[in-house]
Amino acid sequence: MRNLNQDTITQAVLARFAGTPDARLKELMTSLVQHLHAFAREVKLTEEEWLAGIEFLTATGQKCDDKRQEFILLSDTLGLSMLTVAMNNDKPQGCTEATVFGPFHVEGAPHYEHGADVANGAAGEPCIVRGRVLGRDGEEVADAVVEVWQADAEGNYDVQYPGLDKHRARGVLTSGTDGRFHFKTIVAEAYPIPVDGPVGEMLRATKRHPWRPAHLHFMITAPGYEKLVTHVFRSGDPYLDSDAVFGVRQSLVADWIKQPDGVYSLDFDFVLNPVQPVQPVQPIQPIQPRPPAP
Ligand code: BEZ
Ligand code: FE
Repeated sequence: MRNLNQDTITQAVLARFAGTPDARLKELMTSLVQHLHAFAREVKLTEEEWLAGIEFLTATGQKCDDKRQEFILLSDTLGLSMLTVAMNNDKPQGCTEATVFGPFHVEGAPHYEHGADVANGAAGEPCIVRGRVLGRDGEEVADAVVEVWQADAEGNYDVQYPGLDKHRARGVLTSGTDGRFHFKTIVAEAYPIPVDGPVGEMLRATKRHPWRPAHLHFMITAPGYEKLVTHVFRSGDPYLDSDAVFGVRQSLVADWIKQPDGVYSLDFDFVLNPVQPVQPVQPIQPIQPRPPAP
């Protein structure tokens, strides 16, 4: 096809994807092309703006390494991460709500016994976290794998310290037979998301602040239940209504209470959604040949 113009190019591109064998891939590519072209038309995209966009995405990719995920940060700050979480985690009433995963989860964090100090030297005020893992009917969920991670008092995750070769303020626990777990850590504080890359430039250019309200990250898995990726947010935080990544849900806001000995405590129960049993497929009845008409 030749001589394509601004009125005919979209259909020509869509036609090029018409033979995609994977139906879902075809749907995704078709819709992506339609929306990208509609965006360019709507804003009357100039060639300079297109190039600036390409340079921005290039810089975003170049900022990524095994510890830094600038594309997740971009998705988070554009609200795309939270939109995807919200669309895919519409859990029944009573279940703990999900929120963004974020870029600072690390595979292979150390396993801790109940009561251990997962801070492992991270700076911050001391805190005890106690929780239960429950099912939707209130049943206690034993042997759930509870992963926790958080920033320190400086607002940094361990992976943000160049050369630090140990895990700090992150760990994995297993719930007991009563669904309970507890650990020592440091108090969660508000912190800014990393702004030393293209996402930071975007925030500055648009006069957006980079702050996340204080929170603890949890990822909880247990056989028979849907995986839960969530946070617990600290009540009273000034950024609860303007989280840079749109992740706050009121049901996830809790009190960190300062005890007489100066140690803070947080109590929070997590309610998991059972995996829905797969409906057995009804065998197809063979079609009986009709008797011949009389
Ligand atoms: C976090 O909470 O760790 C986080 C989430 C999104 C972007 C940056 C950080
Ligand atoms: Fe975080």
